[in-house]
Amino acid sequence: MAIVFHSPWDNADQWLAALRAAMPREEFRVWPDVGEPKEIDFAMVWQIPHGVLAEFPNLLAISSLGAGTDALLADPDLPRNIPITRLVDPLMADRMAEYVCATVLSYHLGLDVYAEQQSRETWQRHQTMDARDRTVALLGLGQMGQRCALRLDALGFNLLGWSRTAKEINGMHCTHGNGHLDEVLGSADITVVLLPLTDRTENLLDQVAFNTMRRGTCLINCSRGEIVVEDHLITALNNGRLRGATLDAYRAEPLPRGHPLWRHPKVRVTPHIASLSAPGTAALILADQVRRARNRQRLLDLVDMKHGY
Ligand code: OXD
Repeated sequence: MAIVFHSPWDNADQWLAALRAAMPREEFRVWPDVGEPKEIDFAMVWQIPHGVLAEFPNLLAISSLGAGTDALLADPDLPRNIPITRLVDPLMADRMAEYVCATVLSYHLGLDVYAEQQSRETWQRHQTMDARDRTVALLGLGQMGQRCALRLDALGFNLLGWSRTAKEINGMHCTHGNGHLDEVLGSADITVVLLPLTDRTENLLDQVAFNTMRRGTCLINCSRGEIVVEDHLITALNNGRLRGATLDAYRAEPLPRGHPLWRHPKVRVTPHIASLSAPGTAALILADQVRRARNRQRLLDLVDMKHGY
């Protein structure tokens, strides 16, 4: 049996080296050079073209090479009768937490304000606020959200959490369900989006949501561009509802040249790097998933088809 691999990113060789080191006896076939489709029993993929996975009649399971599975689940021909897994890697959660802490601290300390002042050679001090008086809302409390909560709590911020289902996390007030979103958005100084993209979260942050936010709120989106209505975001930045936005995800990626977000003075753009997959640790997790699939054991971190992540 053989494993089909596909990643459109430029670190595909690094992935293959890590996978081969973790599974020296496995044969990896890099799509589209898959040979006999019947021999493929496991897929490790990121953004594989729609329809391809349906061509392998003996597939036991599919593992995403990233945390999100929205692109995979968008495939109308995806085999839905076999296990599909997300990549849940503690190292990726650490990376996300570093990104979120850095951006939250930067707004907390007013580094965006001082950068703007520097461009005008202006020496002006602003009052420093205590972290405990700064409220940070985390939308999404999965593995990444929880790791961010842990680190932000250690920095002393006042934390609010919001998720689809009820969660209990030490040091933070958590609510769940759409009925509570307004209350969370209306209380936060900084809102961090860590939600999966599903039918329920697409366009969640629209004009209505922005108008619910406190004046001068900052937004950090490390999830998917589709959760934010970009035109409404730009309006909220222009009318002062939002003080700033740090974005790591966009509706179109790479962010097209000339897109207004590139040059907006209140927006910081990073190219979807907040939590890059780490082939070295991911390969060990994937090796375990292959072993489980071959032994007909339950795989870990299964996608819940009903909820779409
Ligand atoms: C992921 C991502 O889902 O990088 O892992 O967006």
